[in-house]
Amino acid sequence: MVPGSLGRLEAQAAETATAAITSAEQALNVFDLQAVAARTMRPAHYGYLQTGVLDDRTVAANRDGFSRYGLRARRLVDVRTIETSIELFGRKWASPVALAPVSSQRAFHHEAERPSAKAARRRDALQMISTLTNVSFETLMDDRQAPLWFQLYPTNDATNARKLVERADGAGAGAIVLTVDLLAGGMRRETQALLARQDAGDCQQCHDRSAGFAGYLRRKAMFDGLDLTRASALGDPGLTWDFVRRVRSWTKKPVLVKGVMSGPDADQALAFGADGIIVSNHGGRAEESLIGAIDVLPEVVAAVRKRVPVLIDGGFRRGSDVFKALALGANAVCIGRPYIWGLSGYGQAGVEAAMRLIDEELVSTMRQAGVTQANRISADDLIRLAANPDRGPG
Ligand SMILES: Cc1cc2nc3c(=O)[nH]c(=O)nc-3n(C[C@H](O)[C@H](O)[C@H](O)COP(=O)(O)O)c2cc1C
Repeated sequence: MVPGSLGRLEAQAAETATAAITSAEQALNVFDLQAVAARTMRPAHYGYLQTGVLDDRTVAANRDGFSRYGLRARRLVDVRTIETSIELFGRKWASPVALAPVSSQRAFHHEAERPSAKAARRRDALQMISTLTNVSFETLMDDRQAPLWFQLYPTNDATNARKLVERADGAGAGAIVLTVDLLAGGMRRETQALLARQDAGDCQQCHDRSAGFAGYLRRKAMFDGLDLTRASALGDPGLTWDFVRRVRSWTKKPVLVKGVMSGPDADQALAFGADGIIVSNHGGRAEESLIGAIDVLPEVVAAVRKRVPVLIDGGFRRGSDVFKALALGANAVCIGRPYIWGLSGYGQAGVEAAMRLIDEELVSTMRQAGVTQANRISADDLIRLAANPDRGPG
């Protein structure tokens, strides 16, 4: 264990949680779902889910960021009716909480991404689908019965990237989300490697490494029929902002850039045609920056000046976290690991529970803050706190 690595400590806390729940409905919060995931998943898969890079300090920074803001509670406001809905690209969503793209969900549930799509349908939530799914985008569109957003990893082969976008677009994608934060051979995911060492199972059966990167892609549904002879990496280190313009030219759907962690980059993204920004450090899985996503939200919002929607993900576990992001100017928030914790333990019911718990907490936070509409939550509803390392997250 690495000293000071809150990411790993959080994982450990979940592993040693004592009060077991026996159904998704019993979960008091998303950490209950995490405790089940930690106890029931194969160590290698749990490691893949929880890992950050190096000492997981960016994972921790994502959580710590929320503790720098408190709520300015307001009293005697009529809060009988709370409206959490938001609008993005002309479509209304019941909740500002969306499901972030998470790859390879067969590692977490035998039906892979399908229970998540069905849960999104049940709660009419916005969902983004990874390039690296185990089942096809078309199948998931069928399960969701509404436009999913397709997340694109630019491989080193632009022809394939274009084919992926055109396929998702043709299947009815609501938007294209271009992830720009992972570079080929990026920083080491040590927690993943350490937990894999503890896994006595036979990984080779599902993860035949002999066929290299192309072999890996061939097992992913969206790469069916694509020529993978040139595929050598997920993130092309030679890519520049011009690639955003190229993706923009391949579709008429909105194109969002995911992985922005600075105001100047948000400005660049817009200059190259992006229709939306997702502030994200890939859940702390990209660089060990020690900077939480929420920490850079204000500068991104300032750079964007309401020209396009700003979404954010990274460490959102509580409705109060969501409230803080909305107050700082985000239009919506995405969650990654929390719904996968639910998925691994309870399938569709678990994903629904993760979304429901965070939504319920958001409603009670709004009541206590005296704000009745999600799109009216503003910076006036927060108090910036002096740094206090003893204050717990969230
Ligand atoms: C297991 C796992 C797989 C992920 N796969 C993808 C992916 O395929 N595409 C992508 O853009 N982001 C991916 N992400 C990042 C998430 O979309 C999101 O940015 C992150 O999980 C948010 O942080 P949180 O997990 O703390 O909520 C993945 C994250 C995890 C944990």
